[in-house]
Amino acid sequence: MAAAPPQGTPQPLYTGKAKSLFPHDDRHFRMVFRDDLTAFDAVKKATMKGKGYYNCQIAATLLPMVERAGVPTHFVRLLSDTEHLVKKVKIVKLEVLCRNLAAGSIVKNYGFVEGTEFKKPIVMFDLKEDKFHDPLLNEDIAEALGVATAAEFAKMREMTLKVNAVLRGYLEPRGLLLPDFKLEFGYDLEGGLILADEISADTCRFWDAKTRRSIDKDVFRFDKGDVLATYKEAYERITGKTAG
Ligand code: C5P
Repeated sequence: MAAAPPQGTPQPLYTGKAKSLFPHDDRHFRMVFRDDLTAFDAVKKATMKGKGYYNCQIAATLLPMVERAGVPTHFVRLLSDTEHLVKKVKIVKLEVLCRNLAAGSIVKNYGFVEGTEFKKPIVMFDLKEDKFHDPLLNEDIAEALGVATAAEFAKMREMTLKVNAVLRGYLEPRGLLLPDFKLEFGYDLEGGLILADEISADTCRFWDAKTRRSIDKDVFRFDKGDVLATYKEAYERITGKTAG
């Protein structure tokens, strides 16, 4: 049995695979980026000191950029090296995937040749439900499940395409391709639909533009090399800072 936490230690409201959410005040949560890594529905797991820091800083660079471009997000500011202050949101129970180049499950499930560039970005919606392995949604299923309406689908699609354009515009001059990424949305206390969660090396594929080498969680998923060095490289290339 796990030891009881010391008295006065705040308990997380939610513990995800790599982040924990703590209460903060009436309008905000504290989102902690842990050093945990998981893949394949958490069948593969590891902990690497420093990984949480790199992802936290990558997300703290990219989320404000997206916000400045007109897509509202839950990010308020950094609280520490590994913590974001975020607005309280009620998460929409789906994941939005956006794809520019064929990689990962779209190769496995539909037979695209890896690295094929799509003529226009592909936006897909998955139900956020581990026990069903996040099945693909369409508007009718989402509406029948009460997860999202067709109008909400359209709004998330539009916001996702905007995020895609902003990220590609930022990453391209840094010699990085963005094959795909995953977003999550939520409703804030005013009822506005805003971007939640993170944009990081856990939720995006980043490829070196010249070599097409992975600089993201695929290095962990598929044992492609030094995982921590990969997160560090993503951090350095995206933030423009040198890791200590
Ligand atoms: O696995 P798949 O190829 O569908 O993933 C597409 C993109 O979405 C990848 O960048 C992956 O890291 C991200 N993703 C995620 N969380 C999931 C599923 C996918 O961050 N549950």
